[in-house]
Amino acid sequence: MSQGTTITSPKPFLDVLSGKRPEQTPFWYMRQAGRYLSEYRAVREKAGGFLDLCYTPDLAAEVTLQPIRFFGTSAAILFSDILVIPDGLGQKVWFEQGHGPRLEPVRTLDELKQLSVDRVLEHLAPVMETVSILSRELPSDVALIGFAGAPWTVATYMVQGAGSSDQAMAKRWAYSDPDGFSQLIDMVTEATIAYLQAQIDAGAEAVQIFDSWAGGLPESAFATWCIGPAKRIREALAKSHPGIPVIGFPRACGPLYPRYFRETGVDCVSMDQGMSSVWAAQNIQPIGPVQGNLDPQLVCAGGSAMREAAIAILEAFADGPHVFNLGHGFVPDTPREHVAELSELVRNWRA
Ligand code: CP3
Repeated sequence: MSQGTTITSPKPFLDVLSGKRPEQTPFWYMRQAGRYLSEYRAVREKAGGFLDLCYTPDLAAEVTLQPIRFFGTSAAILFSDILVIPDGLGQKVWFEQGHGPRLEPVRTLDELKQLSVDRVLEHLAPVMETVSILSRELPSDVALIGFAGAPWTVATYMVQGAGSSDQAMAKRWAYSDPDGFSQLIDMVTEATIAYLQAQIDAGAEAVQIFDSWAGGLPESAFATWCIGPAKRIREALAKSHPGIPVIGFPRACGPLYPRYFRETGVDCVSMDQGMSSVWAAQNIQPIGPVQGNLDPQLVCAGGSAMREAAIAILEAFADGPHVFNLGHGFVPDTPREHVAELSELVRNWRA
């Protein structure tokens, strides 16, 4: 190719993460595979339990590919869950239909000592097999995203033994015994680095760190338990796998987004729907590429409310690198026709 020619990669999603602004905004959706699709429910039925689905490579690859076929998203996200890390560390994890995840809680250092990072990669080998199937089968213009939970968010489930809206048990441990709690965070961070490295070795082209419960922490705790571990993960991956972009999703951290972006060194931040897109275009997008941030409930509602909100987001971020996404995952009763209409709208929109 002659000097000066603009080279665009066949994957617009990766172009945006490297700081480019294509005319067409690439898009994918958090929880794009899931219960709102009858085809997902059929495969999940066949697998048995939810974790069985995560650990059966053919079936996990199949549900990863469904939304690519139906909606033509620019990226596929590996089908797995953030709680495979505690499972791999040896904590008992199970999913009760209609109740979400359950774990045998870890609340003391003695209980923590029962867990070990030694067998994580062996235990999670089927997930890496899913990644390699996907990297063979994905269309050439679709990027493959690997992921893990952020240590703080994973720890909130490990300590509580379930999802919680206030993260009470994890906060109490973190506030009353930061040295002890940091042993838990260090263990999860170490396992997460090894797990993400293995996903990249198997073919993941970018990774996202989901810190769904980052928003509940005061600033100094946020710096210690969210920024610190994300920075460690970012630095380890930069060393082992230079050039692989990392997306951080410190959900609902509001005005702390710019600090998180700068201090962690991630390549892109994913924003929840509580973030003003106009403010973010002025204060966050100049730092680097952004992703987000349509309210998933707008996709349930559909119609002009959904269309107008989507266009407002596309327009707000039109002058810089932007990946269109939701502010959080699809909810199970999202009508798929609304997802199809939204995808059509984003695909045809031009900056
Ligand atoms: O399509 C994708 O986005 C990829 C797969 C994916 C799942 N979970 C599948 C899943 C991803 C990226 C996740 C991340 C995840 N898991 C997060 C971070 C993002 C967020 O939503 O905040 C969290 C906190 C979890 C933990 C988790 N897993 C919860 C709280 C639940 C229960 C809630 C629910 O929706 O039932 C799960 C289960 C889960 N993970 C399902 C799916 C498709 C539903 C399981 C089922 O089929 O019954």
